[in-house]
This record gives sequence, structure tokens and C-alpha cells, in this order.
Amino acid sequence: MEKAWWKEAVVYQIYPRSFCDSNGDGIGDIQGIISKLDYIRDLGVDIIWLSPVYQSPNDDNGYDISDYQAIMDEFGTMEDFDELLIKAHDRGLKIIMDLVVNHTSDEHKWFAESRKGRDNPYRDFYIWAEGKNGMAPNNWGSWFGGPAWEYDEKTDMYYLHIFSKKQPDLNWDNEKVRTAVFDMMTWWLDKGIDGFRMDVISLISKVPGFPDGEKGEGLYGDLTPFCAHGPHVHEYLREMNERVLSKYDIMTVGEAACVTLEEAKKYAGYDRHELNTVFQFEHVEGVKGPLGKWTDEKLSLTQLKRIFKKWDEGMDGIGWNTLFWSNHDQPRAVSRFGDDSPKYRELSAKMLGTCLHMMRGTPYIYQGEELGMTNAGFERLEQYRDLESINAYREYVSGGRASHEEMIKYLKFISRDNARTPMQWEDAPNGGFTEGTPWIEVNGNYKEINAALETADTDSVYAYYKELIRLRHEMEIIVYGSFELLMEDSEEVFAYKREYEGKSLFVLCNFTKEEVICPEAFREGKLVIGNYKGEAKDVLRPYEAAVYIV
Ligand code: GLC
Ligand code: CA
Repeated sequence: MEKAWWKEAVVYQIYPRSFCDSNGDGIGDIQGIISKLDYIRDLGVDIIWLSPVYQSPNDDNGYDISDYQAIMDEFGTMEDFDELLIKAHDRGLKIIMDLVVNHTSDEHKWFAESRKGRDNPYRDFYIWAEGKNGMAPNNWGSWFGGPAWEYDEKTDMYYLHIFSKKQPDLNWDNEKVRTAVFDMMTWWLDKGIDGFRMDVISLISKVPGFPDGEKGEGLYGDLTPFCAHGPHVHEYLREMNERVLSKYDIMTVGEAACVTLEEAKKYAGYDRHELNTVFQFEHVEGVKGPLGKWTDEKLSLTQLKRIFKKWDEGMDGIGWNTLFWSNHDQPRAVSRFGDDSPKYRELSAKMLGTCLHMMRGTPYIYQGEELGMTNAGFERLEQYRDLESINAYREYVSGGRASHEEMIKYLKFISRDNARTPMQWEDAPNGGFTEGTPWIEVNGNYKEINAALETADTDSVYAYYKELIRLRHEMEIIVYGSFELLMEDSEEVFAYKREYEGKSLFVLCNFTKEEVICPEAFREGKLVIGNYKGEAKDVLRPYEAAVYIV
């Protein structure tokens, strides 16, 4: 297996809006990030993934970009960005940027031109179609609710938007679009950034002709089969690789929404010359109910384990996996996969960290995960800021498909805002995130869960994550060892073995609050890390994690 720096690295994701506010306007910003670079360096990570900081009207918190080569006013200036990049590099931290090029904002100058007229030179930068019998071109529903087509009076045509109507999809079949995007990427890479996380990159090529999608109980048809892994996606990524990526020593990770193992091999296969890695989502997609993602059902542990096994085995020797429990689109890991009650929060957060960080693949930590931050669990709709959550509530409650209580229950469990509450820095008003009024409420538990407390405590979730990261940097077996799932049928224990150069690493994680039996044979070597003091031989204690090497 070929070694590479991005296989050995640990990535830390920053959601700038919620990270640190330096000027009291209630919104995180670049100077705020700069002020916390030492904190990130001390954790020991190698790479920062910065969610979008580009100019944006913030319909979708920066994932709707109106200028790719300018910084959002609320976040600062390009000088601030340049300072961030220099100061991160000074500390040995790389920065990968979010690249959102499936769509732009409707306030991007390309779209402003495009909608002016059918003959405008930018018309074909976007996907326009004629209506049918006074209706949209087809029945597709947007992933953010409502129809996926928006009527534009000026030219009497519709434009496609998989996400909100303020996020029109770019037309990648147009060579000029590809060139404009590649030039922009080159501009950032020449500035010295270290790679890209590519937003919904699997959606950039659409099936021509726009056939209707299958309809479930809802009003709209499903566009996914016609937009995910479309006919030219691999061709365009190879072109991107050839014209841009291959010229730099960088790292790329594609957010491959809806990706299957077979497709992932194409995006990230070593011999494919497309991307280094992709995010797959099977383990966080969970159980789909009648309302799609809106449910509070959980995958069973055996289902969860089989997903990790399938991806490890499937990519073995073919490509490299990514590992994550959460990001800005998912609820908090400890609330979802662990137990966020005061009694078990720390134990289960450490257990989840162990389970993920000892696996093969590049691990990602979402801001606050290293503190064991929990879901916000907002009870009132007014507390939510995320348009996906608000749209879903309106669509399902006013459409009579869910009651208010039911929908709030689902939002509390799965809404993206659970992960978007401000980073908890200290026991100070608003958790030390801002001196003003935060754009979204701070989680009420900041007095008990915050960075100041945890960095001073050698037994904290933070200290434990730091140790996990250090171990990965020291032990090649954690990076490059083979992976074998043990106790596959256990609904309580997630156990696996890594092997490398004659050594074996046993990773044992109890996903329950009961004591469970665990074969002594797995605990024979030397303890590498564990979340309990004192060893127990034949049982795993509640949420115990233990790693042994022989
Ligand atoms: C990705 C982002 C998400 C955003 C969507 C549209 O899934 O992670 O936050 O809303 O793309 O850009
Ligand atoms: Ca600010």
C-alpha cells in the first residue's frame, strides 16, 4: 500500500458561523478562528476543513455562494483569510476549503446575467427548461422541500435547484462552466490552500431530458436517480483532476451524496485519477421512515458494524476511506450513537472516539465533538435556524403528515441545528462564543461542557481525543493495519482487530450501559488506551472502550 500524508492525517472541521465570534456581532468569523488556532494545534490534528467562508447571502449558511473569490462580510476580509492561512501553516496545520460548485447563489453574477434573457452569454451556465402545460418541466422535488424548479417570469422558463430556490444548479455540461470553476480552484490553490472538500459533488451531472421521478406519499417525484452519479460525473472529475488537482500536492474529499460502494470505487479508486477520498453516508443515513430522514429511529449495532465492515473490505486495496460520526449536517455524535445523560456522556463520547479513531481511514472531528458536545434539542420551532428543518416542519405539519409534537421530536433528534449551536469555550455568557447575541442559541449545558474546563482536565473527553490522535501519529498499525470485524453478531459490542507487520491491535467498544461479556483472548496484550481506570478481564463495563496490542 502506498503511503500518503492525507492517509496519516486527522481532520478537524470548522463551521465558521458557530466557532468563535471576535467582534460581538453574534456570528463566528475568521479572526475568531485565528484566535483559536493554538487550541486546534494543541489537539494535535493536521488539517482544518473550513466550511464555506465565501461571499454569500446565507440562505443556506454559506453553501449558497455569490462570489467564490471574496470572503463573506460577516466573516471578515480576504486579508483576514490570508492571515489565517499563514498562521495555520506556521503551526503546521493545513487548510482545505469547502468547494460548493453543484450550485451557486441566485445572487451570483453568473445567475444575475443568466436570468436576463434567453440569449445572454451566461444563459447556459444554469439549467433552464420550458414548463409543461403551465406547470414545471417535471415532478422533481427539491431536497430542501417544495418543487425543484422555479419559474422565472422574465424569460417564461424554469430553472433547476436541487436545494433551495436560492441555490440554482450549475450546468456542468457547459464547457465554460467547467473552465470558470477550474480557474477559480486554481486561484485558491495558487494562494496556497491544501485541498478541497467538494460539496455534493456527486450531483453535478444530470440525466438529460428530465424524466419524472418516482412519487411516494409526498407531492413530488424523486430526482435522485437522475442527478446522483449522473452520466458525465466521472468524466468531469477526471477533467478537473487533469486540469487542476494533479498539479498540486493536495488532498481532496468529495461529499458523494447517495454514494454506493461501486460508485465510491470510481470516485476514489487509486487508478481513477478523480478524487483522493469520498464521504459515504450509509452509517449516518440511519433508518428512513415515511417522512424520509425525519425520524428518531436508530440503526441497530449489527447494522452499523456491517456498514463499516462493508466499506473497509470494499475499498481495501482500491481506495481510501474517510471516518466520521458527525458534521454540520448531522446531529451530535454522543447524542445519536452514545448516551448524553450526565452519567454516561463522557464515557460514551470517549468510547465513540475510540471506535472511530482506531479504524482504517482518515478520521474527521467536527468542532465540539472533542468536548463531547451534545444535541441542542430545541423544543420550539422559533429556535431553529436551518432552512431544511424549518421547511420540513412546515411541509409535513401543515400538510397533515405529522403532528407538531412528532415533528419537534424528530427535529430534536436529527436536525442539522443540533450541531450548529456555538462552540462552548468557557463558563461565561454564551459559552464564551460571543459578547453579543449569538445567531443561534447556545446549548444550555455550556457550564459543564466547555473547552476551558476540558483542556485543564487530564481525564476529559478532550484529553482523550488528544491521546487518540497522538496514537495514530505514533503507531503505523492504526493507519495502515488491516481491519477485521470481530463479534459480528453482537448487538452490544463493536470489536475489531487491526494487523500490521506481525502485530495485532484489538479494539473493544461497549455500546451499552450494561456490563457485557467479552472474550479474554481479545484482552491479552498491553493496554494502549481505555476510558476506565483499572482493567477488567472478561467483561466490558458500561460504554467501556479498550485497545490492546499484542
Ligand atoms: C451539502 C452541505 C450542506 C448543504 C448542501 C447544499 O450537503 O454539507 O450543508 O446544505 O450541500 O449545498
Ligand atoms: Ca463576528
